[in-house]
Amino acid sequence: MRFRTIPASPADPLRVVIVGAGGMGRAWLATVADSPEVTLTGIADLDAALARDVADSAGLPDLPVGTDAAALARQTGAQALINATTPEAHHPVTTAALFAGLPVLGEKPVAENVSRALSMAAAAEVTGELFMVSQSRRWNPYLATLRGMITRLGTIGTMTTSFFRSERFGGFRDLMAYPLLIDMAIHAFDSARYLLDAEPVTAYCQSYNPPWSWYAGDANATVVFEMDGGTRYVYNGSWCSPGEVTSWNGTWRVSGEKGTATWDGDHEPVLDAELDAGEPADSPNFGIAGALQAFVRALRTGQPPSGEVHENVMSLAMVEAAVQSATSGRLERLDDVLERAHAQALREETRADVRNALAGWSSVRDILAGTERMETR
Ligand SMILES: NC(=O)c1ccc[n+]([C@@H]2O[C@H](COP(=O)([O-])OP(=O)(O)OC[C@H]3O[C@@H](n4cnc5c(N)ncnc54)[C@H](O)[C@@H]3O)[C@@H](O)[C@H]2O)c1
Repeated sequence: MRFRTIPASPADPLRVVIVGAGGMGRAWLATVADSPEVTLTGIADLDAALARDVADSAGLPDLPVGTDAAALARQTGAQALINATTPEAHHPVTTAALFAGLPVLGEKPVAENVSRALSMAAAAEVTGELFMVSQSRRWNPYLATLRGMITRLGTIGTMTTSFFRSERFGGFRDLMAYPLLIDMAIHAFDSARYLLDAEPVTAYCQSYNPPWSWYAGDANATVVFEMDGGTRYVYNGSWCSPGEVTSWNGTWRVSGEKGTATWDGDHEPVLDAELDAGEPADSPNFGIAGALQAFVRALRTGQPPSGEVHENVMSLAMVEAAVQSATSGRLERLDDVLERAHAQALREETRADVRNALAGWSSVRDILAGTERMETR
């Protein structure tokens, strides 16, 4: 998608407001403070006292705070917004910012469901502002190295992720119907799309709760995705697996016609000795610092970044397809998931300009891939 550029640089840093002063808002505050390319003009939260407290604790007693992010951005001369609110607030906060002329870097998941995510993609098109989702685990040099190794394996048959942790969070995750699929698996699904450079076609999921689980909803899930090109991606995970745990990134195995690559999630991936592994990826920034750097670079150059909303939606669609399959007991086609979400977005959209943009999409998949826009505009 073409979007408005802003020539930010260390000499003229991008002025941003952070919205959401919770755990991730504080992480973004520290990341912005460390970046020479960005400067903070304010923090917004529904709880203004919390925003004040977070600013004061960061040694910024004079930093403006408020409850309305777009208004605070206007008052403080901000040029962009970092949205670290809870998932159900992503749509209203980001849409208001885009229509206020602010590009947005938003936390994952893009929205609480695919329908709302499609509305946000259409809002980005209508406004011509960049909306990028920070899918933090994509910004990992080991993942980039593994991606390079995969190109040496020929056709890929199977890729697997094992994710086994024993986490006692308390709070909302203990009460959700699908805590593993909705809160965590999106990171692996997004990495799988990136690693294989392929999009999902179908999903089959069994989601279940072991007898000893301390979660109300399903803490375990096994999902098989068929990716385009025929590769099967298998995700096998648990939030309540006492004993030896895997990395937070999971452990990965990629099996192709010429060999195998493996990654323990925390160290350099390993390729069969007889294959040339190529150069390790040159990517200095991990996690949200990597996302912030990509956002500023994209605004400067006009090149769509990894995580641009259209590109990101399919990762959430994988979650939605897995949940729908777990519920129906059937194999779900991603195209059907996208079409149902599109119909829901059209039914629920309250802005006429965004509804018109959504109504103009003949194929959601092509719109997300960028191919329909290239053909028709
Ligand atoms: N990248 C990662 O690894 C990672 C890790 C944890 C959380 N997250 C994501 O970050 C986001 C925030 O998570 P968190 O753990 O910081 O949540 P949190 O509940 O600690 O904080 C969210 C804050 O947003 C504020 N808020 C909600 N609606 C708002 C609105 N309309 N306007 C202004 N403020 C509003 C709340 O008052 C709260 O202070 C979520 O989307 C979550 O999925 C990402």
